[in-house]
Amino acid sequence: MIPVYVTTAFLALATTAGAISRVTRTGRYLYTDDGTRFFIKGVAYQPEGLVVASSANAFNEPSTFTDPLADAAGCTRDLPFLQQLGINTIRAYSVDSSLNHDSCMNAFSAAGIYTIIDLALPLNGSIDRDSPAWSTNIQDQYLATVSAFSKYDNVLAYNVGNEVMLVNSTAPAPFVKAAARDIKAYLTSISSSALVGYAAIDGPADFLDPLANYLSCDPSGSNSGSSAIDLFGLNNYEWCGDAPSTTYDGVNSEFAGYNVAAYFSEFGSETCNPGVRVWTETGTLFASPMTDIWSGGLAFSYFPASSSAGQFGMINISSDGTTVTPNEDFNNLVTQYSKISFVNSPSQSSATASSFPACPTLNSSWAASNSLPPTPNDAACLCLEDAMSCQFHTSSSNFSALVGTLIDTACSLLGSSGGTCDDIGSSGTTGVYGRVSMCDPVTKLSYVFSQYFELNGRQASACSFDGNGTVNANAPSETAVAAATSCIPSPSAVFTPSLSATATGQSGSSSGSSDSGSGSSGSASGAVSMIGGNVLFSVGLMAGFTVASAVWTLS
Ligand SMILES: *[C@@H]1O[C@H](CO)[C@@H](O)[C@H](O)[C@H]1NC(C)=O
Ligand SMILES: *[C@@H]1O[C@H](CO)[C@@H](O)[C@H](O)[C@H]1NC(C)=O
Ligand SMILES: *[C@@H]1O[C@H](CO)[C@@H](O)[C@H](O)[C@H]1NC(C)=O
Ligand SMILES: *[C@@H]1O[C@H](CO)[C@@H](O)[C@H](O)[C@H]1NC(C)=O
Ligand SMILES: *[C@@H]1O[C@H](CO)[C@@H](O)[C@H](O)[C@H]1NC(C)=O
Ligand SMILES: *[C@@H]1O[C@H](CO)[C@@H](O)[C@H](O)[C@H]1NC(C)=O
Repeated sequence: MIPVYVTTAFLALATTAGAISRVTRTGRYLYTDDGTRFFIKGVAYQPEGLVVASSANAFNEPSTFTDPLADAAGCTRDLPFLQQLGINTIRAYSVDSSLNHDSCMNAFSAAGIYTIIDLALPLNGSIDRDSPAWSTNIQDQYLATVSAFSKYDNVLAYNVGNEVMLVNSTAPAPFVKAAARDIKAYLTSISSSALVGYAAIDGPADFLDPLANYLSCDPSGSNSGSSAIDLFGLNNYEWCGDAPSTTYDGVNSEFAGYNVAAYFSEFGSETCNPGVRVWTETGTLFASPMTDIWSGGLAFSYFPASSSAGQFGMINISSDGTTVTPNEDFNNLVTQYSKISFVNSPSQSSATASSFPACPTLNSSWAASNSLPPTPNDAACLCLEDAMSCQFHTSSSNFSALVGTLIDTACSLLGSSGGTCDDIGSSGTTGVYGRVSMCDPVTKLSYVFSQYFELNGRQASACSFDGNGTVNANAPSETAVAAATSCIPSPSAVFTPSLSATATGQSGSSSGSSDSGSGSSGSASGAVSMIGGNVLFSVGLMAGFTVASAVWTLS
């Protein structure tokens, strides 16, 4: 094994002397600056966070994370093994924009390794499937990460979501597409050529096809790519063991006419021979006809990653964190990846430019509106929070779950007082987005508190919420609803976002205003269900504010 490593590492370094090239998309293919076709030949590179198993956490989603690109010693330890695999790309699923990534990013760049960075974080740092919103707090987190990584030359793509849409649960799609639109505009504004991607869960064609087409379509019908992703990732596990090369025929025909680049953002089933995957799919994935359709893939996973479908790791790390022990999976992937040579066609000059067709129409398996939510507006939401007569206040740094619970409670109370939560709610299916729906959860909560307080004669007792509400003596005399109209006069505005002053750290508080009003505070409320909380709570939110308020109005 040692001679293999030395040779591979030497070759990797020898072929990448000098700066790593930019990779851009022409039509549906990727190219380096010298016009060579680029294929992603990589691994997932993310230590598994703490998974709290529960019925509300069907996907075993972690509630903590370790940023692998901030672990300089870890990257130094792992680089020889990544080089032995002969990879050119790693995917990191959770990174912390407040940490320093120089050591890892520079070491990987020098070794010819690109990074695909997921912008979402566990719990309230992602677009919530059950109660989706594209809101200031999530956008601020995404922008802070892009900004932190923009100085590196080896970011291939930023993912705006991973497996957000599920079969029979496609209503979050407009929020994800709006995220792609706004992150793309931001990248352009900072002269970054990094691609915008999404990583999809696999599924039947009547789910996957409209999903892929939706993320790369133009809802305005004018052949514009402004809300289109550049890179569609498919988490595909259908190849099992030493499968026949026809295994991918179905998915190949589904993507044969796709308009932007596509790749396997995860592959490597553990179902057939757990722990000793043979990885023979790589010979099919990196050969014709798949090279006409796909731009490579990422084997899952370098670090141990267990799920109900098996143990996916290729290495173990010693308890003191210093030593890597590869397993058979690793050795087999080294063997298969070493056999791959990239085709270099079509040439960049003959690659057809993308066209951006109209979006899929709604039907029983695809329920996402072609009307997208607005760009989240930090200044507008801060204006609103400051004008609220009854504000949410907490001393807890772990307030995200509480905010979700309180929104539910306060919306019930508001409904019984004749108000509705329509302004903070939205629907990805009807494409109706409440005026305040793009604000962070804390601002939404203060907005609901204030409406209830005002409908109840501004009595102090109507701003208590068990001690979670505080009367704002500095609030203007206008009502919360009037303040929403004046702070957010254009509730469907789309513009290029900029890095918010409150978004430079993970938990910066807003300066010169109430402590709960920062754009980066709050929680995507339904994310509570992922901490293993109350299932009924998330079901309640799933039903949507509109349904709930209709009931309240009747009562
Ligand atoms: C999706 O909905 C259809 C029709 O209601 C149902 O038959 C199917 O089992 C559902 N699929 C999943 C994965 O929930
Ligand atoms: C819904 O439309 C998509 C095309 O956008 C199609 O692939 C899918 O099969 C349709 N679903 C049903 C249930 O007809
Ligand atoms: C890695 O650790 C797992 C779990 O402790 C163990 O089952 C496996 O044998 C280890 N693999 C290697 C190569 O050490
Ligand atoms: C998530 O919630 C925590 C508090 O529980 C907060 O500090 C953090 O800013 C929130 N993140 C986002 C993106 O809303
Ligand atoms: C945050 O609060 C939630 C709900 O109250 C709780 O389940 C979770 O353990 C808390 N997390 C931390 C890190 O304290
Ligand atoms: C805030 O609301 C929560 C949930 O209803 C409640 O448990 C808590 O006691 C309230 N008060 C404070 C100060 O957190």
